[in-house]
Amino acid sequence: MAFARAATVSDVWEGEPFACRVSGKPVLLVRFGADVVAYADRCAHLGFALSKGKLEGHVLTCGAHHWSFDARSGAGLNPRDACLVRYPVRLEGDDVFVDVELRAS
Ligand code: FES
Repeated sequence: MAFARAATVSDVWEGEPFACRVSGKPVLLVRFGADVVAYADRCAHLGFALSKGKLEGHVLTCGAHHWSFDARSGAGLNPRDACLVRYPVRLEGDDVFVDVELRAS
């Protein structure tokens, strides 16, 4: 595993997509309470940066063509057969570490 520091928990505001780079790759962080979830910052449709989309509750909507995803799991909501690339996250104190080499199960 190759966890690398991505941000602090306090950098990631609930309800706002947070864009960062981890090991040179664009990553999207989403916070739900004490939990932080990480995805490749690429829409499953044509790769638009999801961090430029809209997060309403748990629904993340791409700003390009409005595909939507459940930001808690990365599962597609519209269309349902799409899904996001999710990365493992480790929290240590206020630091958020992400492993962009692995996909979370
Ligand atoms: S690139 Fe996201 S919906 Fe098309």
